[in-house]
Amino acid sequence: MIAAQQDCPFTPVYDNIERDDTMTDSIRELTILQPDDWHIHLRDDKALATTVAHAAQSFNRVICMPNLVPPVKNVDDAHAYRARIIQQLQASDLSAERKAAFDPRMTLYLTDNTTANDIEMAAKSGIVQAVKLYPAGATTNSADGVTDINARVDIFEALEKYNLPLLLHGEVTHDHVDIFDREKRFLDEVLAQIIIKFPTMKIVLEHITTSDAADFVLAQGNQVAATITPQHLMFNRNHLLVGGIKPHFYCLPILKRESHQKVLLDVATSGNPKFFLGTDSAPHATDAKESACGCAGCYSASTALPLYATAFDSVGKIDKLEGFASRFGAQFYGLPVHESTITLINTPMQVPTDYPYFDGSSLTPLMAGEMLPWSIKA
Ligand code: NCD
Ligand code: ZN
Repeated sequence: MIAAQQDCPFTPVYDNIERDDTMTDSIRELTILQPDDWHIHLRDDKALATTVAHAAQSFNRVICMPNLVPPVKNVDDAHAYRARIIQQLQASDLSAERKAAFDPRMTLYLTDNTTANDIEMAAKSGIVQAVKLYPAGATTNSADGVTDINARVDIFEALEKYNLPLLLHGEVTHDHVDIFDREKRFLDEVLAQIIIKFPTMKIVLEHITTSDAADFVLAQGNQVAATITPQHLMFNRNHLLVGGIKPHFYCLPILKRESHQKVLLDVATSGNPKFFLGTDSAPHATDAKESACGCAGCYSASTALPLYATAFDSVGKIDKLEGFASRFGAQFYGLPVHESTITLINTPMQVPTDYPYFDGSSLTPLMAGEMLPWSIKA
């Protein structure tokens, strides 16, 4: 295993944003309604023993991404996957209260073969919250994704009819398109046309990474929203690349330049309900990330709230965290907000250097070994 990041000449501490202390000096504790994570990868089987407990510590509802091997393609798959998650939840040492509160919501993985009937069944299932579209080849386990989005109009009609949201990995995948341009090209060349043809389809542009995506979402009606990850609020491509490649900052869509990061932080902390929490916590074993061909994905499930709190506090907007984390996503999905609360405290915590994962492997979280100024009050 590659040693922790302390050996690195460029220590990627979280110091790239100037702190605005005017609003938050006096706030030492922040109690917010229990949050939900509207985009998480829990993986499957043995991985669930780690990921489910981490997610359920802080989040009540989580929207579970379907990019398993094989993917979650229909309602039967979704029921079976949810049962495996619940089994792990029950086996965990979480409190009875956390076990009762945790509600994994399922997604279907849209393929070239998904039918309108699959969508109808999903909408009526009570457990499928949305349908996920990965352009084929865009990211981890997306080989079964959609090869021609414009050929899936029957699916978009069904989604509109049954009011089931479409979650988008918004990147084009052509080899000749620069990796840093893939999100913007998707918006301009694909999504803009889809929205014109399906103006009432609910769409979440997942894990947005650019000012272009933020502007795009702002320019649409309330049926279009976006999730934002902690890494895209806290970091930019310098953190990934300057002074040596840091594989634990590598995720897709890839971190962009600092000007984009600043706009994401602006919109996330603006109080605009179109932007809400989706960690995109995406576990890959440490040795699969620290590799000559490292996997894409940052793991943040266990420390997501302190990470977001740190990002919001860095611009003096900690008071906007509750809307982003606990209200706006529920509002978009037409679900009630929770009655329970969670308290963050302005007491530093050290992010663990790693967690045990399955078969003797380990999992390195985002900001492993670093100090965060916020933690969850016990
Ligand atoms: C995700 C994964 O590992 O499943 N990786 C990532 O970099 N975000 C897939 C995804 O959401 O793109
Ligand atoms: Zn994801």
